[in-house]
Amino acid sequence: MEAAITGAGAYGLVAMSLAASTAGLKARLELSKAKHRSLAGHPRIARFVASLVPFYQYDEARFFSADEAPDEVVAQRRADFMRVSDLYRKRYAGTLQRTAEATELISDLQFTEAYRVPFQFSRLVRRHLPVGAFLKSSCGVTTTDLDGNAFYDLTGSYGVNLFGYDFYKECIDRGIERVRALGPVLGSYHPLVADNAERLVRLSGMDEVSFHMSGTEAVMQAVRLARYHTRRSHLVRFCGAYHGWWGDVQPGVGNPVAAHETYTLKDMSEASLRVLRGRRDIACVLVNPVQIMHPNSTAPADSTLVDSTRQVHLERAAYADWLKQLRAVCTERGIVLIFDEVFVGFRLAPGGAQDYFGVRADLVTYGKTLGGGLPVGVLCGRKHLMKRFREDRPADICFARGTFNSHPYVMAAMNEFLRRLEEPAIAGLYRDLDEIWDCRAAALNRRLRDTGLPVQVANLSSIWTICYTRPSAYNWMFQYYLRAEGLALSWVGTGRLIFSLNYTEADYQAVADRIVAAAEAMRRGGWWWENPLASNRTIKRRILREMIAHRLSPQRARRQAKRPAFTPSVAVAQRHRVLHIAAQQIVRRLVIKFDVVERVSEDFERPNQSGLQVPDKEQLNGS
Ligand SMILES: Cc1ncc(COP(=O)(O)O)c(C=O)c1O
Repeated sequence: MEAAITGAGAYGLVAMSLAASTAGLKARLELSKAKHRSLAGHPRIARFVASLVPFYQYDEARFFSADEAPDEVVAQRRADFMRVSDLYRKRYAGTLQRTAEATELISDLQFTEAYRVPFQFSRLVRRHLPVGAFLKSSCGVTTTDLDGNAFYDLTGSYGVNLFGYDFYKECIDRGIERVRALGPVLGSYHPLVADNAERLVRLSGMDEVSFHMSGTEAVMQAVRLARYHTRRSHLVRFCGAYHGWWGDVQPGVGNPVAAHETYTLKDMSEASLRVLRGRRDIACVLVNPVQIMHPNSTAPADSTLVDSTRQVHLERAAYADWLKQLRAVCTERGIVLIFDEVFVGFRLAPGGAQDYFGVRADLVTYGKTLGGGLPVGVLCGRKHLMKRFREDRPADICFARGTFNSHPYVMAAMNEFLRRLEEPAIAGLYRDLDEIWDCRAAALNRRLRDTGLPVQVANLSSIWTICYTRPSAYNWMFQYYLRAEGLALSWVGTGRLIFSLNYTEADYQAVADRIVAAAEAMRRGGWWWENPLASNRTIKRRILREMIAHRLSPQRARRQAKRPAFTPSVAVAQRHRVLHIAAQQIVRRLVIKFDVVERVSEDFERPNQSGLQVPDKEQLNGS
């Protein structure tokens, strides 16, 4: 009898563990299906593959003929490159001198300088087309460098500049006046803090507010609170979305360690909804609404502009519908829905993306422009989620501090910003906002098309990106022609242009004229020579072949790279080779483990997929 019971118990146990492992397998498969097929959708593999990418650069001859252009085109390019270089050297002499000196000391400058264009071209570009890092003033829609050159500002100061620099100067000046008596006292609040909280609660439709020093910190706090209240471990972010540089929200390339409690899922995908429905460990979902411009891809930057696959398909209704579905699943599963509006907040509408798409989140982060020109991060949320302690467990708290949180000067500039948002002149700027910017973009696109230039623009309201209509390996050069026309671009070049809303029609027309003039100059320079055999696919394949060759033959790569510093010894080179072969095996195993082999083939059958591409089968097979 006892034996029978024991036998039945054992069967039961086996059955239970089988059921559990089947459920685990099913959940794992669901997760796998919800990953985007690009490397951006597989952060761990991406980090690993990134570590295999060898350094190499083109010598001068190859620099101008990477696309096998004929000699006369190469000569044309070379001459125009030197003409633009000469122009930069003369026109920006003082600014460039200062930049060169400071770059020795400022690591950020070294980094941005190194990653303005695809790395194969970087050395010559850095030598001949340096970009000044210093400005002395701003006024209206322009900024002025140390040599007195004025530029139309298309950087938008990372998105901070929504209403024009003069607006923020006023916010800061008036704000400082109002808190001067208190000065930089921290810990206790200036009364303006309470006013800010009331205004933010109204604008966001939330119950409470917390103040932080940057957007990154506001996001950190949102995720921490979500984990605290749900008692679940994982955050979900969508493939390609940026949420600041904190490790958990940046699990891929750029973060030296893996983020173990982050799921990166496909944006706008039923498979992702299934994961949200099926798993019990998901605390929150982070949405960065700017991803509507390029779902599942990272923000476009010219450092990766190796071909012309950059695309924007903006479907507002479809994205709003997606957000509604997300909202419904999160509500059903008790998952906290976080809108990260650090970038788009106040830009798309006074009530931000929540208003723009008609969907309410549980927590919303703001930053950038909200600080009235000073650094800030803000979290607004529902009461039960904002609470940082439990009434019944005094030691179970959710800690969040920051020395400079609620700094009186920042709070005062923010207060000016929030007050002025209600002024008719500022409120009026939101009237027909999308129509205005859509019309401007459409008119420019018509002009570019009519002139036969291979450039088009795409926009989400005042956030623009430049796309290229014909395959070319040289689109990254366009940023230097735009700068030569007096347009200030940020580090990502033509990937993102951000307009402030104080651009008048005349200002805008001046910018449009310069964009066309820059494109015409670039065409005259021969950079858009059309290789009848080239496609985006062949360009990518060429680069992949180059990388593999350099990876497999580090000695040759070393000879070509001609880098006296950091030159590896032969022994080190041999070791690299052995490591490389081992690494390839690991990549292969990893890829199989992550169930993406079949997606790899799909990827190469559809090479125009946005996002970083996974390596091809030959490479994965270690051949
Ligand atoms: C959507 C989003 N979240 C968070 C951040 C990080 O903000 P900060 O740079 O202020 O830390 C950014 C910055 O660009 C952002 O665009």
